[in-house]
Amino acid sequence: MNAASRNVNLEWREAGSGKPLILLHAFPLNSAMWGKQLAGPPPGWRLIAPDLRGFGGSPDADDAVYTMDLMAGDVVALMDRLQLRSPVICGISMGGYVALEMWRQHPDRVRALILADTRAGPDSPEAARARERLAQRVEKEGIDVVIETMLPKLLSTTTRYHNKGIVSAVAAMMKEAGPGAIARTLRGMAARRDSEPLLRTISVPGLVVVGAEDVITGRGQSEFLARSIPGAWLETIDDAGHLPPMERADEFNRVVKTFLSRLPQVAHA
Ligand code: MLT
Repeated sequence: MNAASRNVNLEWREAGSGKPLILLHAFPLNSAMWGKQLAGPPPGWRLIAPDLRGFGGSPDADDAVYTMDLMAGDVVALMDRLQLRSPVICGISMGGYVALEMWRQHPDRVRALILADTRAGPDSPEAARARERLAQRVEKEGIDVVIETMLPKLLSTTTRYHNKGIVSAVAAMMKEAGPGAIARTLRGMAARRDSEPLLRTISVPGLVVVGAEDVITGRGQSEFLARSIPGAWLETIDDAGHLPPMERADEFNRVVKTFLSRLPQVAHA
């Protein structure tokens, strides 16, 4: 089976019209996490939020491991279907791993990069082993174990205490994911390549965003990304944890809009 035939036909949500911006969701969520971006696209922009394979409305695949390159290939196949030459790619956390993989494989298909609450380095051997243990538990016990492990770390203190609606929305999204997709994706993230050497090769505009209370990514990782990508800059979102597009949507949308407004004009995206 060649790589192309292994692409999954992704489902997606979209809003707005004009230049394309692709929004890649975090693990183990889906495109619904971008609801507050899709509710008000910046004028002149078309936002496209795919469900990565096995999440939201997108089907599972036969692959035992959902590697970041398989996921990147699915997104490029969706871009081909939508006839998008080189959109701006915005990825949060796992979505950022996929965005970096897209840059590795198809730099000519990326107009600019927004990397939110993500990192470029691979898993340490210990982190990879912990993912494998979690994958095996999910296969045996179901997805509640992932919710228990991840939910307390995903959101800022402010969100957890003052915005219960977001807490339940995130939990509900996690519950929608199947144990098989979760286990395969955990193994894919554990196997991801080191993208640190890639950062210096990024020759398109870059924006790095991080929640000030993100305990999963940490500010050091985001500073490293912003320092290593030529010309990139870092925006820190106060009172947000790992999911600023949900937790502080107005502020996240503002920094993204500013970045988009500074991009050089190109005739065809
Ligand atoms: C995510 O939010 O996508 C995950 O925290 C990524 C990871 O587990 O490395």
